[in-house]
Amino acid sequence: MRIRVGVIFGGRSGEHEVSVRSAAAVIENINKEKYEPVPIAITHGGAWLSPRSSIELLPEHVHNAFSTEALDGDFALIGDTSYNGLTSLEPDTESVGIDVAFPVLHGTFGEDGTIQGLLEMAGLPYVGCGVLASSCGMDKVVMKSLFQKAGLPQCKYAWLLRRDFETDPDAVIGRISTEIGFPAFVKPANLGSSVGVSRAENLDELSAAIELAARFDRKVIVEEALKMREIECGVLGNDEPLASRPGEYVIRDKSKAFLDYTEKYAGTGNNEFVVPAAVSAELEAKIREMSITAFKAIDGSGLARVDFFLRTDNGMLLINEINTMPGLTDASGYPKMWAGSGVSFTEVIDQLVSLAIERHADRSRNLTSLQAA
Ligand SMILES: Nc1ncnc2c1ncn2[C@@H]1O[C@H](COP(=O)(O)OP(=O)(O)O)[C@@H](O)[C@H]1O
Ligand SMILES: [Mg+2]
Repeated sequence: MRIRVGVIFGGRSGEHEVSVRSAAAVIENINKEKYEPVPIAITHGGAWLSPRSSIELLPEHVHNAFSTEALDGDFALIGDTSYNGLTSLEPDTESVGIDVAFPVLHGTFGEDGTIQGLLEMAGLPYVGCGVLASSCGMDKVVMKSLFQKAGLPQCKYAWLLRRDFETDPDAVIGRISTEIGFPAFVKPANLGSSVGVSRAENLDELSAAIELAARFDRKVIVEEALKMREIECGVLGNDEPLASRPGEYVIRDKSKAFLDYTEKYAGTGNNEFVVPAAVSAELEAKIREMSITAFKAIDGSGLARVDFFLRTDNGMLLINEINTMPGLTDASGYPKMWAGSGVSFTEVIDQLVSLAIERHADRSRNLTSLQAA
């Protein structure tokens, strides 16, 4: 019997389209002898579709990856609930059961612990980070305090609440510009793919940038803008994670202010992801070590991509962020970095599913009450 992997994709976040592309790549590369993929789409509006309707959202070349059985009926989001008390759930007989969930969802309601919580309650093993790591990795303010605690070097930053900005914008702008200076980078605390991110050169631009970021989140983070190279590293594993060889976004047209959403995903041809990154062996070792430290700092499991800034003015290596469900499209860094480290995407997916099962089994060992002891 093949292991049924429910590939959950799409979703309500601004990264819906990237998720669809990531899911298509997972479905294309998953070992079909061992695994039976079941497509589970979530629409922009948040509706969960049946497997049969879900394939309509996927590119045509992966439509034949699914068996008729996998497409028939509804899927059931129910696993072994004996350890969390949800004993009254029973799958209905029309349902397609899944053994493992692979939430290939980026951003809000996908990478932030919410879907992970749902899968926990359903008692299903799932690929990737758990609730805590997902939400800590998503919130740039919480993430930065964990990194600081772990001794990881970062750029200068400050943060603010939307509410405080709306109540007294001048006070907030004054404080931030004194703490950070110009040019500054402004971002919503909980988003990804550069959505709502902008650069500010002066007070007026700072105000506009905060206003923009505050439309996406109640928390906004402001950083010193750096001249740097963008280096990334893939992490794979649970309690003893491994780091891939690092890769680098090499930008051709340097006049572009930064890698925005279109630059990264639309294939403008303006940037190229190079593996391995052109850094010394010593620096590569440091990047890999820091990636594992970052992964452990958020209590990661399964996978993550850790992003760095290598300052071009003073050579300092700083950690920028961790992404707990990195892009997995055919143009994405994560699969490319593992391929460059000698691990094919098919092998990465195989390991991810095994790691999900391993983590679920480990979790099931935990006692939930004193009585059980
Ligand atoms: N402090 C900074 N200085 C210069 N460029 C930055 C800075 N922070 C972010 N950027 C640019 O903006 C992009 C998006 O920011 P990032 O922190 O990675 O947020 P996201 O979660 O949206 O990916 C980065 O890849 C980089 O190109
Ligand atoms: Mg980023």
